[in-house]
Amino acid sequence: MERKPSIHSMYQTQIIGTGSCLPKRVLTNKDLEDIVDTSDKWITRRTGIKERHISSNNENETTTELATQASLKAIEMAGIENQDIDLIITGTVTSDRQFPSTSCMVQDSLKATRAAGFDVSAGCSGFLYALSIADNAIRCGTSKTALVIGVDRLSSITNWLDRSTCVLLADGAGAVVLNSTTENQGILSTHIRSDGALWELLYSSPGNSYSPKILNDLDQMTYHLRMEGKRLFKKAINCLTSIAKEALQYNSLSSSDINLVVPHQANQRIIEGLAKSLAIPLEKMYSNIQLFGNTSSASIPIALDNANREGLIKKNDYVLLSSFGAGLTWASSILNWSR
Ligand code: ACO
Repeated sequence: MERKPSIHSMYQTQIIGTGSCLPKRVLTNKDLEDIVDTSDKWITRRTGIKERHISSNNENETTTELATQASLKAIEMAGIENQDIDLIITGTVTSDRQFPSTSCMVQDSLKATRAAGFDVSAGCSGFLYALSIADNAIRCGTSKTALVIGVDRLSSITNWLDRSTCVLLADGAGAVVLNSTTENQGILSTHIRSDGALWELLYSSPGNSYSPKILNDLDQMTYHLRMEGKRLFKKAINCLTSIAKEALQYNSLSSSDINLVVPHQANQRIIEGLAKSLAIPLEKMYSNIQLFGNTSSASIPIALDNANREGLIKKNDYVLLSSFGAGLTWASSILNWSR
């Protein structure tokens, strides 16, 4: 199938800067052995995770601050002024407050006074949902320079007594700066999907992350994340695969054209399952789950920033992004790297 030009095809979107920020504190599998009945061996074998970063309000590692620090790095790489940003969209399920949005809080931190900001709630797919909206705004010509953030502090809604979830979840932030180009490069497509009928596979009870009961006051913990891991596992591989195939077909590309896949980092076995079903060699699947665990909306922009700074992405490379999360939601994007 030929790649369809958008109705307003005069502009395309390119990524000109990436950034990420992780909290200081590292919680290892060994540390978790003191909290729940688990073992480094089980966690490593079933998930691929060895350690993760956990935030603290004492270190000023609020959602807003993590997002701001990631954004500053992306802005520095992009070489733009904060005043150039006209749109800020953040994917998060753990903003500091129910309102105002994290995007508006970050706008204030950056003094990006020309921007409009709002958040998107799409579980671990939040970043790709936000990227899709920003891409469309740029293609339509309503935005020229956008900041897209993925940030979460899942530790604030983690039930630290539930070994089946607390070993997976972590905190962090990633960001990209987008700008408008007339070149036929950059973000080639975004695809987003959801199935609300399956919401009960992964949900949290009400609350926010500003006053988290992180690893203390466990009895006081009134809200947390609940997950049906086994059913999600199968669904994750199916959804990640189908949305990736949809993107490949839309762009008339095959798996062998893809130079790097940056998938949501939920479980190393899911990443391996995706590689197998797309017939993409494992060495083309970017994974940092060993060090960072599942950072929800932040997982793809952190991984993209790491891969970019490690020099794994070259000009003209095709990069496939694919995510899956609460909602259920899933999404993909194909980039033709333009830097
Ligand atoms: N340590 C030791 N044993 C454990 C642990 C643990 N941390 N957790 C569970 N177990 C036990 C179980 O109790 C069970 O014991 P039993 O056989 O005696 O009943 C056994 O290990 C096997 O448990 P399973 O749940 O079958 O383990 P599984 O291989 O399915 O792995 C996991 C569980 C890691 C949660 C996996 O199912 C998974 O990754 N699911 C998908 C997660 C996901 O994609 N989430 C969506 C995105 S995340 C987001 O949006 C926030």
